[in-house]
Amino acid sequence: MSNDRYFVTGAMGCIGAWVVRTLVQEEMPVTIFDLSDNRHRLELVMPAAALDKVDFVRGDITHTETVKSALVDSGANHVIHLAALQVPFCKADPPLGAAVNVVGTVNMFEAAKAAGINHLVFASTAGVYGKKSTYEERLMDHDSRLDPVNHYGVFKQANEGTARIYWQDDSIGSIGLRPYTVYGPGRDQGITSTPTQAMLAAVRGEPYHISFGGYTGFHYVSDVAKLFIQASQIAFKGSEVFNIGGAVAHMSEAVEAIKAVIPEALVTHEETPLPFPDGQTDEELRALLGDVPDTSLADGIRETIVHFQRAVGDGRLSASS
Ligand SMILES: NC(=O)c1ccc[n+]([C@@H]2O[C@H](COP(=O)([O-])OP(=O)(O)OC[C@H]3O[C@@H](n4cnc5c(N)ncnc54)[C@H](O)[C@@H]3O)[C@@H](O)[C@H]2O)c1
Repeated sequence: MSNDRYFVTGAMGCIGAWVVRTLVQEEMPVTIFDLSDNRHRLELVMPAAALDKVDFVRGDITHTETVKSALVDSGANHVIHLAALQVPFCKADPPLGAAVNVVGTVNMFEAAKAAGINHLVFASTAGVYGKKSTYEERLMDHDSRLDPVNHYGVFKQANEGTARIYWQDDSIGSIGLRPYTVYGPGRDQGITSTPTQAMLAAVRGEPYHISFGGYTGFHYVSDVAKLFIQASQIAFKGSEVFNIGGAVAHMSEAVEAIKAVIPEALVTHEETPLPFPDGQTDEELRALLGDVPDTSLADGIRETIVHFQRAVGDGRLSASS
């Protein structure tokens, strides 16, 4: 039997819920550390009975000693650090955003040190890159210039630096992953959540206008969860941050994919793109991990819609917004 145990912060959130679902499917013991005790995303993506196998610790990532003791007590030897506040929340309250996103990540490394864990995986973001208009290259390579345009991106860039210093000073290795527009069941907050909200609206027969257009890097949340788990399973010596590739597509392609499943869907999109590059390359991540999950946009959208249809059908989601 494997001795692997996982500690996942922010696992009441969208990506974390899928990480937990995947780990439980693989019969891996997992402890969730989150400030929230609202299980709605977990209950949306996995059977209620499977949640009995999960240890829940309610705690605040900004409290150093709380994070340390939770990790040590969990007995985990793998850490996936996802707890964070997204762009709108950092904009609304920058000091809190800095506390959660920056101090929280420092605390996670301190906890790893206290627990004798020498490798962790954390979520960075495509938001560490700058305005699309300032780059010659269309897609960001993993070493393209970082030039974040908001507090959230600046905080995540700080985390990438924090990770580098913990490797330098304490030999705690890390892999940071940079997702862009994650979609799928459970994606219900943050500026890039509107394509997913459009999929749910289509299932409910409600009109929906996606808040941005242009090109973006779409990632199906199930793939993202698997990448975080894969990255946490390799004995990586060093500190590196990798782009996640996914499907670089125009928003009109996402709308078409929704209408391919629900032809009567009343989904439209804003033409204005996000002020960010069109997408990212992921050669380095593929070289590191080998076989990476890569669900096509059409398949990911179809799976999401089918998931929502089942959830509306069995009452996990209401039939109207
Ligand atoms: N979803 C995306 O498209 C995307 C893109 C790029 C990066 N990311 C990063 O991936 C990670 C996960 O994203 P997500 O979409 O699942 O986010 P989410 O907002 O759905 O979940 C974040 C979780 O962090 C928890 N949290 C917030 N403050 C906390 C605190 N003080 N202590 C403990 N937990 C706290 C929340 O309760 C929530 O469960 C985040 O770090 C995010 O910045 C996400």
